[in-house]
Amino acid sequence: MTTRITWLGHSAFQVETSGKSILIDPFFEGNPVAQVSADDVNADVIIVTHGHGDHVGDTVAIAKRTGALVISNFEIVTWLHNQGVEHAHPMHIGGSHAFDFGTVKLTIAHHGSSLPDGSDGGNPTGVILKTAGGNLYFAGDTGLFGDMKLIGEENLAVAVIPVGDNFTMGPDDSIRATQFLQPKTVIPCHFDTWPLIEQDVDDWSRRIAAETTARPTVLQIGECFEL
Ligand code: NI
Ligand code: MN
Repeated sequence: MTTRITWLGHSAFQVETSGKSILIDPFFEGNPVAQVSADDVNADVIIVTHGHGDHVGDTVAIAKRTGALVISNFEIVTWLHNQGVEHAHPMHIGGSHAFDFGTVKLTIAHHGSSLPDGSDGGNPTGVILKTAGGNLYFAGDTGLFGDMKLIGEENLAVAVIPVGDNFTMGPDDSIRATQFLQPKTVIPCHFDTWPLIEQDVDDWSRRIAAETTARPTVLQIGECFEL
């Protein structure tokens, strides 16, 4: 069964698997590189890694329009309930849950997670999504951490990692992260959205190929990777 991952710009991705559309960190309104709008994107499920505005993004509007199930940490789900989102599933770091589209496990991430209105968004997370097509890891916003070696024991088909530097790992640490994670394919995100996080991803791609066992896959915005 095919699982398809489409980059929607910044840290926003769509995963299509088991007949469902899963959005990760759907940030479109105010995203200078977004090519889709919160008004017409299709979602059955939304997964939010942490509370920052460039990740929570349009979750409230999309969830209200589509009725999508939102999955996030307990604090963000509580906040979403207060915003009028009723269909939401709280989880937390280290916990797994089997949904009809696959199994979700939240992991640690080293970052912040305050919500756009200043509310406490709990701890930031990464996500392991076990699909029919393979195990996917979305690191969320994070710096490098040694426990990525443990996540590397999860037989990852794909790792999606930030490379933009300044707010997250930059290229050098993303190479080390890929060595720890040992995915078959690594996809970069969280770069080139704004000048502060511009990166030479062609150079990054050459380094991944030379210094790790993973295959680098730099998607264009709107482009998909199938597995
Ligand atoms: Ni962030
Ligand atoms: Mn971010």
